[in-house]
Amino acid sequence: MQQAQREDEKMHAGQRKSRVLCLMMMLNILICILVGVSLNLGQEKGGSQKIRIPSTKFWSKHTVSKSYWNKEQQRLGFLYNPLIGTVLANDTLSELPDWLNNTSPIGSCEPDYSVTTKISDYNSLPQRFQDFLLNMRCRSYPMVMDQPHVCKGKPFLLLAIKSLTSHFDRRQAIRESWGKAGILANQTVVTVFLLGNSTAVDHFPDLSGMLRHEAKLHRDIVQWDFRDSFFNLTLKDVLFLEWLNKRCPNTKYIFKGDDDVFVNTLRILDFLKGLPRKQASDLFIGDVITNAGPHRDRKLKYFIPESVFVGGYPPYAGGGGFLYSGELGIRLYNISQQVPLYPIDDVYTGMCMKRLGLVPEKHKGFQTFDIEEKYRNNPCIYKGLMLVHSRTPQEMIQIWAWLNNPDIECQ
Ligand SMILES: *[C@@H]1O[C@H](CO)[C@@H](O)[C@H](O)[C@H]1NC(C)=O
Ligand SMILES: *[C@@H]1O[C@H](CO)[C@@H](O)[C@H](O)[C@H]1NC(C)=O
Ligand SMILES: *[C@@H]1O[C@H](CO)[C@@H](O)[C@H](O)[C@H]1NC(C)=O
Ligand SMILES: *[C@@H]1O[C@H](CO)[C@@H](O)[C@H](O)[C@H]1NC(C)=O
Ligand SMILES: *[C@@H]1O[C@H](CO)[C@@H](O)[C@H](O)[C@H]1NC(C)=O
Ligand SMILES: *[C@@H]1O[C@H](CO)[C@@H](O)[C@H](O)[C@H]1NC(C)=O
Repeated sequence: MQQAQREDEKMHAGQRKSRVLCLMMMLNILICILVGVSLNLGQEKGGSQKIRIPSTKFWSKHTVSKSYWNKEQQRLGFLYNPLIGTVLANDTLSELPDWLNNTSPIGSCEPDYSVTTKISDYNSLPQRFQDFLLNMRCRSYPMVMDQPHVCKGKPFLLLAIKSLTSHFDRRQAIRESWGKAGILANQTVVTVFLLGNSTAVDHFPDLSGMLRHEAKLHRDIVQWDFRDSFFNLTLKDVLFLEWLNKRCPNTKYIFKGDDDVFVNTLRILDFLKGLPRKQASDLFIGDVITNAGPHRDRKLKYFIPESVFVGGYPPYAGGGGFLYSGELGIRLYNISQQVPLYPIDDVYTGMCMKRLGLVPEKHKGFQTFDIEEKYRNNPCIYKGLMLVHSRTPQEMIQIWAWLNNPDIECQ
């Protein structure tokens, strides 16, 4: 009896199953019809049944810009487009840029004198521009000092600080305060100083012996043999990214900044600790400037002539200091090979970010234009900040002492 009942139930179940199947099929058919009708309607409404004939040839060359940097960008763009790149390789690209030419020895890059005729007002440009333009296609320079093992312990935070040979006191103040390498708040912090060569051309005294001594003492100096000048800061940035890719690809985060800023490393570590994973890999924060463009006033430090660059600047983080993820650092290294050097280093980083389809994010903890004067001696103000510009070596040590003093109570 029980047996029969079960058979009965099975039969019922079978019937139910086929009924459900049938229903589902009908539903499917209905959906198909509905979708078909609505698609037809859509086409009639939008009139998209007509075949569009493009008014211009899709392969036509972009109009070539008159400004040198813009032209170089187009050239690199073509070079990286595998389809068009091969076509143009016979035309304007007979010579590869030195960083893409594996057979070109490091440091062998010659000034490109053709710029003197390619740029209409070359001869009237300030000397620093002429120097920049002549060497714009060079970015392979030999290292003078390296720290190949500095990132062995997979740092959590790498502090990469742009410095000049003569700034011994700034570097020492940073080592004794916010840039002290080692374990901080349970995280590994590694510090390196990025240097070029302070050359006799710029009337720098020869401090190379003292620098070698310093490097032996602290093992945190990374130096390349190029002329350390304002317009070569982008070169320093690009060489740093290359170094990062080779020597420190596993660092979780990077702070890159100047040697005259105060950084609240504790606040930064605390911020990073609470960061969701998804946000962490694309992290890029700083004092972000938007809607800026080149200055056309010759007297300004940031003057850029129209013969060199036209267009607006993408959003960029002020070069005093910004924070980004190690993962993003490697992507920036990759993309930098497709972006010609630009004389202003923080704008250049913004240009690379734009090509990656990313936007740097403004964080109010970054005060690259300093805080109001009345707060500058208030220890508690610094607890909530990530960066202040500018501070002397003595001020760095004072502020760091405030931050680490348990007797100072802040609300
Ligand atoms: C480029 O030039 C080489 C020889 O000069 C030729 O073999 C090749 O087909 C050319 N490529 C294109 C895409 O025109
Ligand atoms: C690469 O560099 C070498 C040595 O400087 C040079 O002879 C050669 O023409 C370069 N190749 C290209 C494709 O630019
Ligand atoms: C540091 O890590 C140790 C061990 O993982 C843990 O016990 C300690 O609480 C941590 N300290 C801080 C300040 O996070
Ligand atoms: C750096 O500059 C000095 C002074 O101009 C010069 O003597 C030296 O050869 C340059 N290169 C290095 C690697 O120091
Ligand atoms: C950048 O460095 C190179 C190599 O030392 C030098 O030839 C060039 O003049 C420098 N550029 C500027 C703008 O100082
Ligand atoms: C960087 O480029 C190399 C070579 O083109 C590629 O193998 C690598 O995946 C790229 N890395 C990132 C993070 O984009």
